[in-house]
Amino acid sequence: MKALVLAGGKGTRLRPLTHTSAKQLVPVANKPVLFYGLEAIRAAGITSVGIVVGDTGAEVREAVGDGSRFGLEVTYIPQDAPLGLAHCVLIARDFLGDEPFVMYLGDNFLIGGIADLVDAFGAAGHDAQILLTKVAEPQFYGVAELGPDGQILRLEEKPANPRSDLAIVGVYTFSPAIHEAVRSIEPSARGELEITDAIKWLIDHGYSVHSHFVSGYWKDTGRLQDMLECNRIVLEAIRPDIRGSVDGASEISGNVVVEAGASVEGSVIRGPAVIGAHTVIRDSYVGPYTSIGESCLIRDSEVEYAIVLRDSSITGISRLTYSLIGRNVEVTRAQGMPNACQLMVGDHSKVQVRA
Ligand code: G1P
Repeated sequence: MKALVLAGGKGTRLRPLTHTSAKQLVPVANKPVLFYGLEAIRAAGITSVGIVVGDTGAEVREAVGDGSRFGLEVTYIPQDAPLGLAHCVLIARDFLGDEPFVMYLGDNFLIGGIADLVDAFGAAGHDAQILLTKVAEPQFYGVAELGPDGQILRLEEKPANPRSDLAIVGVYTFSPAIHEAVRSIEPSARGELEITDAIKWLIDHGYSVHSHFVSGYWKDTGRLQDMLECNRIVLEAIRPDIRGSVDGASEISGNVVVEAGASVEGSVIRGPAVIGAHTVIRDSYVGPYTSIGESCLIRDSEVEYAIVLRDSSITGISRLTYSLIGRNVEVTRAQGMPNACQLMVGDHSKVQVRA
């Protein structure tokens, strides 16, 4: 069994971060989303992984390397344009050969791993297995309609009027039958070869396609609120680990990780929270569900329910919440007159100011 991990795409809903960075590398509890998927693949006993990369390929390659630190052997498969998930299978044909494989969307976040799914697929001998879960807004996903015995009656990609609330999760297992399917379908209205259409093709041509319900937590991390929620879920399970320094004037409560080389001075940290390596927290409050990346400075500020990426600084701000701050960002208090906000923000940024 092999794995095909999709790490291309534009990540438009996470702009401006994705102007300069791959959406799959945005960190959750200071670890890129993509790494959780790679670890789950390894834990399922798979070592041969193809990663499909697009415009942000160089950054993904730099982060993952040859995969050896995950216990994986990684082959990179460049995709010239984001032409759809089924197109990824098409261009990975040589890598996949005639082996069954699990396809994992690199921005999907699944707690509980994929070992059960992979085992069940191997044992049952189906041509495809999809994962389903109930969602509040099915129109943003592939949607499945099931019959009374759980058989798949219909699959639709992002239907305007969904017939059920069962979304297709971005982890699929396939037999080599999928290769004929991806060659046979036509691009959708959004101009992409949809994996949902390829699975539909399998069903229409008499192949066996089975569905499973996801029992644990799942999220497609496309949007700010999804990233913050994943961060909260992962932080809820962390164990306290203080490797950096915390001075006597500071107070730490709840589950807090202070990574090596970080320093907490005259501050209050209420977990769950993670403070990255070589970060300084000075005269500040860091509240629950916050991940501060490495080499950041938080000074005279209050930060809560937020993700701050590495090399950023927040000074003189009370209080910042529900925020995702990119790399090398400076957030400071405006000085002097007029008493106003001063902004220099990138394209597609979102700023909410309480003036
Ligand atoms: C893709 C699939 C969709 C699936 C979703 C899960 O959507 O096309 O069927 O429900 O992933 O994350 P996309 O992320 O390409 O919009």
